[in-house]
Amino acid sequence: MAGEAEKPRFVVEPLGSKHDRAAFSCGVEILDAYLHKQAGQDLKKRVAVPFVITPDGTTIAGYYTLSQCSVQLDEIPAEVAKKLPKYPIVPATLLGRLAVSVAFRGQGHGATLLMDALYRTLQHSREAASASVIVDAKDAAALPFYTKYGFLELPRIERRLFLPMGTVEHLFR
Ligand SMILES: CC(C)(COP(=O)(O)OP(=O)(O)OC[C@H]1O[C@@H](n2cnc3c(N)ncnc32)[C@H](O)[C@@H]1OP(=O)(O)O)[C@@H](O)C(=O)NCCC(=O)NCCS
Repeated sequence: MAGEAEKPRFVVEPLGSKHDRAAFSCGVEILDAYLHKQAGQDLKKRVAVPFVITPDGTTIAGYYTLSQCSVQLDEIPAEVAKKLPKYPIVPATLLGRLAVSVAFRGQGHGATLLMDALYRTLQHSREAASASVIVDAKDAAALPFYTKYGFLELPRIERRLFLPMGTVEHLFR
């Protein structure tokens, strides 16, 4: 409508040199420091791939990281494990970190980042298998953010949650 300011279109894309990492602040020191100091190195060394959500190609409103990992079959709840082959370890994808800048909180960007991560994980699992998505909630307060999307707690590891890839597939059907 004429006179109305155009809303920015947020895009999720891999972290690159054009993004202003230094300005990012989510209020959690360890998550800020990771983006400021470590994320570029992890990308370069192929340890993790950081993705950012940006309204303008420069500002980072939020980010997450993805890596490959594995879980021991005996860490998975029995009702899920019984549906898997009896290998001692099973492949998984680690959603290592997820944070939204204080300036962009409460606008749905956390949910968008999580859905983007799950969608990418599902796509990649069709070529390099992954049986579930794993997250480590940074503290007890962060747990509900994941459980509300169906993540289940791994009984033997505190604050580690997982989402079977079959559940992810259902989400995007
Ligand atoms: C958790 C975090 C990523 C949420 O980002 P956000 O952009 O404000 O979240 P959204 O606006 O997308 O909210 C999505 C939903 O999650 C809910 N939510 C947001 N933060 C939550 C939290 N800490 N616990 C439970 N639910 C939460 C919202 O109420 C919303 O629910 P609704 O869809 O029913 O309204 C953000 O607060 C953050 O970066 N916190 C610091 C780092 C952190 O805790 N990271 C996650 C764990 S490692």
